[in-house]
Amino acid sequence: MGWNSWNKFGCNVSEDLIKGAADAIVSSGMKDAGYEYVVIDDCWQVSRDAGGNIVADARRFPSGIKALADYVHSKGLKFGIYSDAGVKTCAGRPGSSGHEYQDALQYAAWGVDYLKYDWCHTGTASAEWAYSTMRDALKASGRPIVFSMCEWGTAKPWLWAKDVGNLWRTAGDISDCWDCKKKDALSFVKIADMQDGLETYAGPGHWNDPDMLEVGNGGMTTTEYRSHFSLWCLLAAPLMAGNDLKSMSAEIKEILTNREVIAVNQDALGMQGRRVRKDGDTEVWAKQLSDGSRAVILFNRGIDETQVSVSWEELGYPAHLSAGVRDLWMKKDLGRLAGMYRVKVPSHGVVMVKVTP
Ligand code: GLA
Repeated sequence: MGWNSWNKFGCNVSEDLIKGAADAIVSSGMKDAGYEYVVIDDCWQVSRDAGGNIVADARRFPSGIKALADYVHSKGLKFGIYSDAGVKTCAGRPGSSGHEYQDALQYAAWGVDYLKYDWCHTGTASAEWAYSTMRDALKASGRPIVFSMCEWGTAKPWLWAKDVGNLWRTAGDISDCWDCKKKDALSFVKIADMQDGLETYAGPGHWNDPDMLEVGNGGMTTTEYRSHFSLWCLLAAPLMAGNDLKSMSAEIKEILTNREVIAVNQDALGMQGRRVRKDGDTEVWAKQLSDGSRAVILFNRGIDETQVSVSWEELGYPAHLSAGVRDLWMKKDLGRLAGMYRVKVPSHGVVMVKVTP
């Protein structure tokens, strides 16, 4: 869990922005809710010096990266950075190709705790080889650094990256829209669909990453953002907030810090939830939790409010069972129900419950 600069700020990064985000994670209550990693995405770097060392943008980061990492650490948070396996990053800054060990040592000396490693300008390189090289370089640096693989699912990393990265992107870049008009853009629902079937590959220490959150960035309604956040929690996805934490509304903060929903995401069993039923525009998604209960999302993708139901059998329980049902957004116990639960779900919305036998 953490925050990353890209979705909202793109290349417009600076030490003031990152310090401000660290301050806001603490003051907003996000840190208390579990958000920990503050990650600068692309565009912090400008060149390499005569010795091949990566050079940060001195105008935007006048105190240097080490001082910034120290600041983030002083807030009780962890610090992350971005590079690329190719010769250039996606925004055209110097990549790490041919400098993997040198860069890893530099990151460790700065106090970096997390590396997001992108896949632009990699030519014909093998992803497995390139990511394993940086994995080895990070290991050799002697500092524990979370390794976030960003190759967009191109080479199906879920099949081979369990011992390479801690998380891997399963799709291209998310767009801040329910179902975008823009050609080729990956909306929230398109990305959600792409996660169906990947659940068996995720587990503690090696997670599918459907991309960072767009919650609070303005392109979707509050109801849609609640659906986006609920799905990502059920998918055991990394929760990297991507909004402006300094100016978020009370509603957005309430979504990002709902502890009962976050507890589903962080559950110790580490199972990724899956879609158990799709009936046109209505869907049921479920995730097994360590106490034997299930987190369930009743999802309505249609344009009208509609009833959605889930039976205990669909969740793997005996049909006759009576089970406790708790609504995780209303934070309310609905009592013990026999066999099933049925509820009206708003258009583009979810009802998210925990079912406990
Ligand atoms: C790629 C990644 C994004 C972001 C940008 C930065 O598109 O997938 O998440 O890091 O590069 O340029």
